[in-house]
Amino acid sequence: MRVTSLLTRATALAVSATIALAAGANAQESARPQEHGPNQQYFVHGAPQVQSLEWTIAAGGRIYDNWWEALDRDMPEGTNPAYPASAEQSGPGTYRCKECHGWDYQGADGIYSSGSHYTGIIGVMGVSGQPPESILPILRDENHPYTTDMINDEEMLRVATFLSEGLVDMTPFIDRETRQVIVGSGDLDRGRAIFQTTCAACHGFDGRALDWGQGDEHNFVGTEAAALPDEVFNKISNAHPGVAMLNMRAFSVQDRINVMNYIATLPTGLDDMIVVGDDDDQDQDDG
Ligand code: HEC
Ligand code: HEC
Repeated sequence: MRVTSLLTRATALAVSATIALAAGANAQESARPQEHGPNQQYFVHGAPQVQSLEWTIAAGGRIYDNWWEALDRDMPEGTNPAYPASAEQSGPGTYRCKECHGWDYQGADGIYSSGSHYTGIIGVMGVSGQPPESILPILRDENHPYTTDMINDEEMLRVATFLSEGLVDMTPFIDRETRQVIVGSGDLDRGRAIFQTTCAACHGFDGRALDWGQGDEHNFVGTEAAALPDEVFNKISNAHPGVAMLNMRAFSVQDRINVMNYIATLPTGLDDMIVVGDDDDQDQDDG
């Protein structure tokens, strides 16, 4: 497995060397990839007339990630009054479900068991499998000061459906201590096949056509998968809220794990392009 992944990486680098300039140009063109066209407004923020269970679960997952981006609402002001005063975060981010309950749904028992996101609050795995209707009242209790202007009842039902049917235990494929994808937990070839035929349409074959880094920092699919795989698993299962991205909710859990295994091998920075030997120009292009 290890040898294969090294070879793959070498091949990917060789290929990316020849398209380095093209990738640089793409990164510049997509300076503000968060924007989407008016024709995509309904796909990104609306709902289909006949809603499949898969669409509903993914839509709920995007609300769990960031409800105002998912639903095109005003960003809340200040810090969530329900956020523990003893914890370190502040500001609108404290209104995101993931901030208290974690990307891995395990709260204080998971990746947020220490560090700047620690709150001591439990995860949401306990409600997995419960009927959505029985989860709904929790989402309107005093720990959850969301008005119906922020998240209306129909939208909250999507969240409850996500909690009921969409949660995945990430411990078999993400090491909680190192926060790394566990090598060998998925099929790399299958992950590559899915990536090259779906994700690459927007992210490019080496994952560097979209760059959401700021200033000199570059953030590609590979960067994100290497550093925050639990977050990325949410993004690929539900899509990134507020942008025109597909999601893999209709694929099996194992296929999503296969993609995780593959994207963890993609280049994490521009440095990997230096193979061409023209790094100075490259840096300037993307600065
Ligand atoms: C500011 C922190 C905070 C945020 C943000 C937050 N919650 Fe909670 N949540 C809590 C607390 C506190 C509890 C109660 C934990 C306990 O009983 O120990 C809780 C409990 C829950 C439970 C019950 C878990 C169980 O097993 O009993 C669910 C489900 C839940 N929250 C879902 C959500 C969802 C969905 C969102 C976003 C729409 C959200 N929470 C946002 C703090 C938060
Ligand atoms: C139709 C275009 C499109 C497709 C297809 C697509 N994405 Fe994206 N993706 C985006 C856009 C746009 C963003 C937002 C970039 C930004 O934040 O500015 C994004 C963001 C991301 C992020 C970063 C989210 C974050 O934390 O900021 C990851 C990871 C990601 N995509 C992975 C994937 C994977 C894996 C696939 C294939 C399963 C995929 N994407 C398919 C358009 C797409």
